[in-house]
Amino acid sequence: MAKQIKILLFGYSFRKDSFTKAISDTIVNRSNSDMKINEYNILDIPIFNQDNEQNAPESVKKFKKNIEESDALIVVTPEYNYSIPGYLKNAIDWATRPYGNNSFEEKPIAIVSSSPGPLGGYRAQNHLKQIFPLLNAHIINRPEVIISHIHEKVKDGKVVDKQTLDLIDSMLGALFAWTNRIKR
Ligand SMILES: Cc1cc2nc3c(=O)[nH]c(=O)nc-3n(C[C@H](O)[C@H](O)[C@H](O)COP(=O)(O)O)c2cc1C
Repeated sequence: MAKQIKILLFGYSFRKDSFTKAISDTIVNRSNSDMKINEYNILDIPIFNQDNEQNAPESVKKFKKNIEESDALIVVTPEYNYSIPGYLKNAIDWATRPYGNNSFEEKPIAIVSSSPGPLGGYRAQNHLKQIFPLLNAHIINRPEVIISHIHEKVKDGKVVDKQTLDLIDSMLGALFAWTNRIKR
Protein backbone atom coordinates (compact mmCIF):
# COMPACT_ATOMS: atom_id res chain seq x y z
CA MET A 1 0.00 0.00 0.00
CA ALA A 2 1.30 3.48 -0.86
CA LYS A 3 2.46 5.61 2.06
CA GLN A 4 0.58 8.72 3.17
CA ILE A 5 1.95 11.82 1.43
CA LYS A 6 2.54 15.26 2.93
CA ILE A 7 1.17 18.14 0.83
CA LEU A 8 1.79 21.86 1.25
CA LEU A 9 -0.93 24.19 -0.09
CA PHE A 10 -0.31 27.92 -0.65
CA GLY A 11 -1.16 30.82 -2.94
CA TYR A 12 -4.60 31.89 -1.71
CA SER A 13 -5.27 35.57 -0.99
CA PHE A 14 -5.36 37.22 2.45
CA ARG A 15 -8.70 38.91 1.90
CA LYS A 16 -11.20 38.24 4.71
CA ASP A 17 -13.82 36.61 2.48
CA SER A 18 -11.33 35.23 -0.02
CA PHE A 19 -12.70 32.68 -2.47
CA THR A 20 -9.28 31.09 -2.95
CA LYS A 21 -9.03 30.59 0.82
CA ALA A 22 -12.48 28.95 0.72
CA ILE A 23 -11.25 26.64 -2.04
CA SER A 24 -8.09 25.89 -0.03
CA ASP A 25 -10.10 25.02 3.10
CA THR A 26 -12.37 22.82 1.00
CA ILE A 27 -9.38 21.00 -0.49
CA VAL A 28 -8.10 20.29 3.03
CA ASN A 29 -11.54 19.00 4.03
CA ARG A 30 -11.69 16.69 1.00
CA SER A 31 -8.38 15.02 1.81
CA ASN A 32 -8.43 11.34 2.75
CA SER A 33 -6.11 9.02 4.63
CA ASP A 34 -3.72 8.95 1.63
CA MET A 35 -2.61 12.49 2.41
CA LYS A 36 -2.02 15.17 5.02
CA ILE A 37 -2.50 18.69 3.62
CA ASN A 38 -1.13 21.76 5.38
CA GLU A 39 -2.26 25.23 4.32
CA TYR A 40 0.56 27.74 4.37
CA ASN A 41 -0.13 31.48 4.55
CA ILE A 42 2.59 33.43 2.71
CA LEU A 43 1.42 36.81 4.03
CA ASP A 44 4.55 37.40 6.12
CA ILE A 45 7.05 36.96 3.26
CA PRO A 46 8.71 40.35 2.56
CA ILE A 47 9.48 41.78 -0.85
CA PHE A 48 12.38 39.96 -2.46
CA ASN A 49 15.80 41.60 -2.41
CA GLN A 50 18.66 39.68 -3.95
CA ASP A 51 21.10 41.33 -1.54
CA ASN A 52 19.46 39.30 1.24
CA GLU A 53 19.14 35.95 -0.45
CA GLN A 54 22.20 34.43 1.27
CA ASN A 55 20.75 35.44 4.62
CA ALA A 56 17.03 35.19 3.99
CA PRO A 57 14.44 36.35 6.55
CA GLU A 58 13.12 33.70 8.95
CA SER A 59 9.72 33.67 7.21
CA VAL A 60 11.41 32.72 3.94
CA LYS A 61 13.56 30.03 5.56
CA LYS A 62 10.40 28.59 7.11
CA PHE A 63 8.54 28.62 3.79
CA LYS A 64 11.43 26.92 1.99
CA LYS A 65 11.73 24.29 4.75
CA ASN A 66 8.00 23.56 4.54
CA ILE A 67 8.20 23.09 0.77
CA GLU A 68 11.27 20.88 1.01
CA GLU A 69 9.73 18.67 3.70
CA SER A 70 6.58 18.10 1.62
CA ASP A 71 6.10 15.30 -0.88
CA ALA A 72 3.86 17.42 -3.11
CA LEU A 73 2.46 20.92 -3.49
CA ILE A 74 -0.87 22.52 -4.36
CA VAL A 75 -0.97 26.15 -5.47
CA VAL A 76 -4.37 27.84 -5.33
CA THR A 77 -4.23 31.20 -7.09
CA PRO A 78 -6.59 34.04 -7.88
CA GLU A 79 -5.98 36.02 -11.09
CA TYR A 80 -4.69 39.58 -10.77
CA ASN A 81 -4.41 41.60 -13.98
CA TYR A 82 -4.22 38.54 -16.22
CA SER A 83 -1.49 36.92 -14.13
CA ILE A 84 -0.71 35.60 -10.66
CA PRO A 85 -0.76 38.03 -7.72
CA GLY A 86 2.51 39.79 -6.92
CA TYR A 87 2.64 38.26 -3.42
CA LEU A 88 2.64 34.77 -4.94
CA LYS A 89 5.33 35.49 -7.54
CA ASN A 90 7.37 37.11 -4.78
CA ALA A 91 7.14 34.01 -2.54
CA ILE A 92 7.98 31.71 -5.46
CA ASP A 93 11.02 33.85 -6.32
CA TRP A 94 12.32 33.67 -2.75
CA ALA A 95 11.88 29.89 -2.66
CA THR A 96 14.06 29.46 -5.76
CA ARG A 97 17.05 31.24 -4.24
CA PRO A 98 19.97 31.41 -3.65
CA TYR A 99 20.99 30.02 -7.03
CA GLY A 100 21.38 26.24 -6.75
CA ASN A 101 19.01 26.05 -3.78
CA ASN A 102 15.64 25.87 -5.50
CA SER A 103 13.09 24.41 -3.08
CA PHE A 104 10.75 23.37 -5.92
CA GLU A 105 13.24 20.96 -7.50
CA GLU A 106 11.47 17.67 -8.43
CA LYS A 107 8.30 18.54 -6.50
CA PRO A 108 5.01 17.16 -7.83
CA ILE A 109 2.56 20.05 -8.02
CA ALA A 110 -1.12 20.68 -8.74
CA ILE A 111 -2.37 24.10 -9.82
CA VAL A 112 -5.81 25.47 -9.04
CA SER A 113 -7.09 28.83 -10.29
CA SER A 114 -10.38 30.60 -9.77
CA SER A 115 -12.16 33.82 -10.56
CA PRO A 116 -15.64 35.29 -10.23
CA GLY A 117 -15.35 35.83 -13.99
CA PRO A 118 -16.14 33.29 -16.73
CA LEU A 119 -12.52 32.21 -17.39
CA GLY A 120 -11.65 30.92 -13.93
CA GLY A 121 -8.26 32.60 -13.77
CA TYR A 122 -6.86 30.40 -16.54
CA ARG A 123 -4.35 33.10 -17.50
CA ALA A 124 -2.89 33.03 -13.98
CA GLN A 125 -2.89 29.23 -14.18
CA ASN A 126 -1.00 29.37 -17.49
CA HIS A 127 1.62 31.68 -16.02
CA LEU A 128 2.30 29.14 -13.27
CA LYS A 129 2.59 26.55 -16.04
CA GLN A 130 5.39 28.67 -17.52
CA ILE A 131 7.17 29.18 -14.21
CA PHE A 132 7.17 25.72 -12.61
CA PRO A 133 8.74 23.76 -15.49
CA LEU A 134 11.72 26.14 -15.31
CA LEU A 135 11.97 25.27 -11.61
CA ASN A 136 11.84 21.54 -12.46
CA ALA A 137 8.64 21.02 -10.51
CA HIS A 138 6.41 18.33 -12.03
CA ILE A 139 2.93 19.68 -12.73
CA ILE A 140 0.00 17.28 -13.05
CA ASN A 141 -1.56 17.92 -16.45
CA ARG A 142 -4.95 16.43 -15.67
CA PRO A 143 -7.44 17.36 -14.40
CA GLU A 144 -7.10 21.10 -15.01
CA VAL A 145 -8.74 22.80 -12.05
CA ILE A 146 -10.00 26.12 -13.37
CA ILE A 147 -12.97 27.37 -11.37
CA SER A 148 -15.11 30.07 -12.96
CA HIS A 149 -17.97 32.04 -11.34
CA ILE A 150 -16.51 31.15 -7.96
CA HIS A 151 -18.76 33.63 -6.10
CA GLU A 152 -21.73 31.41 -7.02
CA LYS A 153 -20.01 28.24 -5.81
CA VAL A 154 -18.94 29.21 -2.28
CA LYS A 155 -21.19 29.40 0.76
CA ASP A 156 -20.06 30.14 4.33
CA GLY A 157 -16.40 29.80 3.40
CA LYS A 158 -16.74 26.42 1.66
CA VAL A 159 -17.19 25.29 -1.93
CA VAL A 160 -20.70 23.86 -2.32
CA ASP A 161 -20.83 23.24 -6.08
CA LYS A 162 -20.95 19.48 -6.77
CA GLN A 163 -19.04 19.62 -10.06
CA THR A 164 -16.24 21.63 -8.44
CA LEU A 165 -16.08 19.23 -5.49
CA ASP A 166 -15.79 16.29 -7.91
CA LEU A 167 -12.99 18.11 -9.73
CA ILE A 168 -11.15 18.70 -6.46
CA ASP A 169 -11.48 15.00 -5.53
CA SER A 170 -10.19 13.98 -8.92
CA MET A 171 -7.25 16.41 -8.62
CA LEU A 172 -6.32 15.01 -5.19
CA GLY A 173 -6.42 11.45 -6.53
CA ALA A 174 -4.27 12.42 -9.51
CA LEU A 175 -1.76 14.26 -7.34
CA PHE A 176 -1.45 11.25 -5.02
CA ALA A 177 -0.84 8.88 -7.96
CA TRP A 178 1.58 11.30 -9.63
CA THR A 179 3.57 11.79 -6.42
CA ASN A 180 3.98 8.06 -5.97
CA ARG A 181 5.06 7.67 -9.60
CA ILE A 182 7.70 10.36 -9.28
CA LYS A 183 9.00 9.05 -5.95
CA ARG A 184 9.41 5.50 -7.30
C1 LIG B 1 -5.54 43.72 -8.41
C2 LIG B 1 -6.62 42.85 -8.93
C3 LIG B 1 -6.62 42.47 -10.25
C4 LIG B 1 -7.60 41.58 -10.74
N1 LIG B 1 -7.51 41.12 -12.02
C5 LIG B 1 -8.32 40.12 -12.43
C6 LIG B 1 -8.11 39.48 -13.69
O1 LIG B 1 -7.22 39.81 -14.45
N2 LIG B 1 -8.92 38.47 -14.03
C7 LIG B 1 -9.95 38.04 -13.23
O2 LIG B 1 -10.65 37.11 -13.59
N3 LIG B 1 -10.19 38.63 -12.03
C8 LIG B 1 -9.38 39.66 -11.62
N4 LIG B 1 -9.57 40.25 -10.39
C9 LIG B 1 -10.73 39.85 -9.58
C10 LIG B 1 -10.37 38.66 -8.68
O3 LIG B 1 -10.50 37.48 -9.45
C11 LIG B 1 -11.33 38.63 -7.50
O4 LIG B 1 -11.15 39.81 -6.74
C12 LIG B 1 -11.15 37.39 -6.64
O5 LIG B 1 -12.21 37.31 -5.74
C13 LIG B 1 -9.79 37.42 -5.91
O6 LIG B 1 -9.58 36.22 -5.20
P1 LIG B 1 -9.94 36.10 -3.65
O7 LIG B 1 -11.45 36.07 -3.53
O8 LIG B 1 -9.34 34.80 -3.22
O9 LIG B 1 -9.35 37.26 -2.91
C14 LIG B 1 -8.63 41.13 -9.88
C15 LIG B 1 -8.64 41.56 -8.55
C16 LIG B 1 -7.66 42.40 -8.08
C17 LIG B 1 -7.68 42.82 -6.62
